[in-house]
Amino acid sequence: MSFPSFSWDLLRSTATLIVCSLAATVLHHPDALVPPSTGVLSDPHIGLAINPRVTPRVVNCTGTEAEALSQAVPLAIDYIANALAELEHEGPEGDNYRRWFGAPNRQRHSTVSSHFEALARDDLPGYTFICNPSACTEHESECAFVDYTIKGVMNLCSGFFIAPNRGRNSRASIIVHEATHFFRNGFTSDHARGESESERLARSFPHIAITNADNYEYFAADACSRGGALHSLTDAS
Ligand SMILES: *[C@@H]1O[C@H](CO)[C@@H](O)[C@H](O)[C@H]1NC(C)=O
Repeated sequence: MSFPSFSWDLLRSTATLIVCSLAATVLHHPDALVPPSTGVLSDPHIGLAINPRVTPRVVNCTGTEAEALSQAVPLAIDYIANALAELEHEGPEGDNYRRWFGAPNRQRHSTVSSHFEALARDDLPGYTFICNPSACTEHESECAFVDYTIKGVMNLCSGFFIAPNRGRNSRASIIVHEATHFFRNGFTSDHARGESESERLARSFPHIAITNADNYEYFAADACSRGGALHSLTDAS
């Protein structure tokens, strides 16, 4: 019986990659070109966790790439904290939850929350980030990928570095996306990619949406964007 190993391989192949499907848009995104704005605001609605600047472990990265990571990693941690805060505050009825995880459902909400809790406990600043590994050239459109069996190692391709700092399909949200692939952070797959596919997945197949990395990425990016100032505080540090 080869089914178990076949399905394992299938999972493995779908769980390791993220395609930069919006690479063309990202190239012209103003956030990719201009420095982040500064400003101080606070969000009375969601408890924000402002993380200090970090110096992530990098391999084969230029100074510019390492600098981009030192901003993106704390922002990714903030995204996760905000996602968790919003899940707790709004429960399964929240607009953001419905958009990315579909019809309100306590059990699914609890699964999503447990994955964000695992992400929040994870040591993202302790991850190793490999810049432009040779595997990037085999898949031109990829912006980042992980092998979920190699915990805490993220491979970043050029698409990652031309992505904007924040928001959906940003460096910060891509890190959240990739981190959800690891076994203990949800072991997500890439069933659907991009915003419209992921929204459609949530509407039609919410039980699959809660296993899809992009849905976590967009939920976290949107939860954070309501906080507004979070980015500025982190970016300005
Ligand atoms: C780092 O770059 C060197 C030189 O190009 C290469 O041989 C090595 O495999 C790279 N390391 C990783 C982890 O990709």
